[in-house]
Amino acid sequence: MQKIIYILTLLSLSFTISAQNSDKIKMNKFVDDLLNKMTLEEKIGQTVLYTSGYDVITGPTVDPNYKEYLKKGMVGGIFNGVGADYTRSLQKIAVEETRLGIPLLFGYDVIHGYKTIFPMPLAESCSWDLDAIENSARIASKEATAEGINWIFAPMVDIARDARWGRIVEGAGEDVYWGSLVAAARIRGIQGKDLKDRERAMACVKHFAAYGASMAGRDYNTVDVSLVELWNTYLPPFKAALYAGSATIMTAFNDLNGIPATANKYLLKDILIDKWKFDGFVVSDYTSVNEMIPHGYARDEKHSAELSMNAGLDMDMQGGVFMKYLKELIAEGKVLEKDVTLAARKILIKKYELGLFEDPYRYSDSKREKTDIMTAEHKEAARDMARKSFVLLKNDNQVLPLTSGKKIALIGPMIKDKREIIGSWSAMGDRTNVPVSIYEGMVEAVGEHNLLYAKGCDIESDDTSGFEEAVKTASQADIVVVSVGEFHNMTGENNSRAGLDLPGVQLQLLKKLKETGKPIVMVLMSGRPMTITWENAHLDAILDVWFPGTMGGAAIADVLTGKYNPSGKLTVTFPQVVGQIPLFYNHKSTGRPFDASTNYGSRYWDVSNDPLYPFGYGLSYTTFEYADMKLSSETITKNSPLKISVKVSNTGKYDGEEVVQLYTRDVIGSITRPVKELKGYSKIFLKAGESRIVDFTLTVDDLRFYNADLEYVYEIGDFSVFVGGNSQKTLEGKFTLK
Ligand code: BGC
Repeated sequence: MQKIIYILTLLSLSFTISAQNSDKIKMNKFVDDLLNKMTLEEKIGQTVLYTSGYDVITGPTVDPNYKEYLKKGMVGGIFNGVGADYTRSLQKIAVEETRLGIPLLFGYDVIHGYKTIFPMPLAESCSWDLDAIENSARIASKEATAEGINWIFAPMVDIARDARWGRIVEGAGEDVYWGSLVAAARIRGIQGKDLKDRERAMACVKHFAAYGASMAGRDYNTVDVSLVELWNTYLPPFKAALYAGSATIMTAFNDLNGIPATANKYLLKDILIDKWKFDGFVVSDYTSVNEMIPHGYARDEKHSAELSMNAGLDMDMQGGVFMKYLKELIAEGKVLEKDVTLAARKILIKKYELGLFEDPYRYSDSKREKTDIMTAEHKEAARDMARKSFVLLKNDNQVLPLTSGKKIALIGPMIKDKREIIGSWSAMGDRTNVPVSIYEGMVEAVGEHNLLYAKGCDIESDDTSGFEEAVKTASQADIVVVSVGEFHNMTGENNSRAGLDLPGVQLQLLKKLKETGKPIVMVLMSGRPMTITWENAHLDAILDVWFPGTMGGAAIADVLTGKYNPSGKLTVTFPQVVGQIPLFYNHKSTGRPFDASTNYGSRYWDVSNDPLYPFGYGLSYTTFEYADMKLSSETITKNSPLKISVKVSNTGKYDGEEVVQLYTRDVIGSITRPVKELKGYSKIFLKAGESRIVDFTLTVDDLRFYNADLEYVYEIGDFSVFVGGNSQKTLEGKFTLK
C-alpha cells in the first residue's frame, strides 16, 4: 500500500512539474512572439514607469505629458494612480489605443495597509508574530488589488540602526535574522503563492542596498560600508525576500563603494543575477537615475541612462531618461539593443504572470472595490496587530492595567487625534473620520463618565496656555493617561531628525503633570526610538504604541484596560541620548571594551554605553522567569546539532505571552564578530503560574557568516549561547564548534 501511495505521489509530482514546464514554455513563446513584433521604441516603452499625479507624489518631478506617452506605447507602468475606474481608464488607453495593446502595471506604495491601515512596519515587527505580519500584508494586497493596483512597492527591508533616519519606521528594525524572517513573511503576504491570484499584487523589495546606513541618519545621504558589513548585515533580508519569490526589486538612492546603487553593477549584476539568480526585474527609485548627476557620477541625463542600463537596471521610475536616450545610445553603440530587449522581456514576463494578457482589467474591479475593503475582518486584524505591536516599556507598581471604577484623565495632543494615529505613508487610509482615536477607544472601553479630558498642548508649538486646564483635569482624576509623541511626518522619507526628544512643549507638560503627584501613564506615539530618559525616570508607566493605524485607539484601550496583556518586544534599541547613535545590540567588541576600573575602555565622558531600553526588551502585565538552561552537548558538529532548553515560568498574576530569545556569540573569528546575534525565538503563551521547557536547536549552518573573502562559512572554535527575555538579560552557556 505504502509503495502505491509513493508511486502515485511521484506521478502527481511529475505531472505538476510537467504542467508547470509547459506553462513556462507557453509563456516564453508568448513573450518572445510579442517581442518579435515590437519596435525598439516599444521595447524601450516597457522600461518606462511614470507617476500619474493622481495621488501624492513621492519625489520632486511629475511629467504632465505622461498620458501622451502612454498613447504612443512609450510607458510600461504607471504608479500613484488608484481606483478601479481610474486604473481601468488608463489601462483602456494602453490596451485599445496603442499599436500592440500591451497592458500596464499599476504600482503603489502600500506600506502598512491600503485603506485599513495597520501599524507602521517597525511596530509590526515588534509583535514577533510572523503569521500576523504575513496576514497584514495579505490584507493590504487584497485591498490594493481591488482598486487596480497590481504592483506594491514594499516591503522595505533596509536594516536600520540610526533612529535619526526617518525611514527606520518602514522596516523591521536593527536585526539581520529577524529582518530576514519578516522580509520573507511580507513577500508571502503580498504575493501569495501565485501572481495570477487576483487578490494579490506583485511585491517590490526595496531599497537595494544599504540605504539604512545613510550617514548621520540624514535621508539620501552617502553610505560607506565595508563589504563584510554589506554581506553580513544589509544583504540578508534582500536575499530572504528574493528567495521567498519577490517578483521585483527597487534600487536605493544612495551610493555604495562610490557608485550609486542605481548603476551599481556589483549589486545589480554580480549579486542579483550571478549569485542569486534573480529573474524578476529591477526598477530604479524615484528619479534615482537622473540623480546620479548631482551624485557626481553621470555627466548628464543621457550618460545616466547609459550607466544604469549597462549596470543592469530594467526600469526607470519617473526619470524619463530611458525614454529619451536609449534609442540614441543604441545607435551610438553605447548601449546594446539586446540589453534593452532583455529588460523589456523581464517586465513582459511579470505582466504575463500577473494574468494581464488574459484580462488587462482583472485588478480594476469595481465590485471588489465595494466588498473587499475595510471589512470587519480587516479591521479586527488591524486591531489585533496593533495590540501585538505595542511595547510596554515601564510599569512601576503595576499601575497598568487600569483598575475599573477609577477616574481617568486623558491628556495630550494625541488623545483625540485621528491623523497622526495612522502614521506616515498611509496609502488611501482615511485621515479624518474613520480612525478610532484613543478617546473613542476609551469611551467604548470604560464609558465616558469615567473619563476627563484636556489637550494640554500641541505636538509642536511653544504654546503652554493649555497647561493650567490640563493640570486641573489631572488633579481631579485618580490616574493620568497622557498621550504625546511625534507628528506622523517626522518619520518616513526625508524626515530625519537630529534630536529625538518629544517635540514642542510636551516634556514640559509631562513635568507639570508630574507635580500633581498622580500616577502617570505615558502613551507614546512615534515612528522611531525616542530619547525619553526623563520620562523613564519619572513617570509610572510607558506604553509605546508607535503609529498604530486605523484601529489604534481601540487597541490602546484594550491594552490599557487589561483586555489584552502586552507582549511586544523592541526590534530596535532605544538610546539614552542621540550622541550614542548608532547604538545596536549586535555591535562588535572593541580592543578596549568598557571596563569601569580603567580610563582606557571605550566609553563616553558624560553617559554610559548602555541603551535606555535594549533590543528584545518589553514588559508584560505578568512576569517571567528563566531558569535551568541546558545544552545537549558541549560541542556542535556538522552532523550533530545542539539542543538548548530553558525553563520559562510565568511568575505573575496574569496569563501572558513571552518572546523567548536565543543569541550566540562567536568568541574568536577570522573576522571580528558581534557580541551577540539573535539566532532563534519562540513566542509562547503561559497561564499565570505555569512553566514550560522551551527548546531550541542550533545547527552549524546557523553559525555561518561572510568571512573576509566573502565566503559563507562557519568556523571551529568556542561560542557562547544566551537565552532570555531581551538581549541584555540572559542566561549563558558555552559550547565548541568542532
Ligand atoms: C521612495 C520609494 C517609493 C518611491 C515611489 C521614493 O521616493 O524612496 O520607497 O517606492 O518613491 O513612490
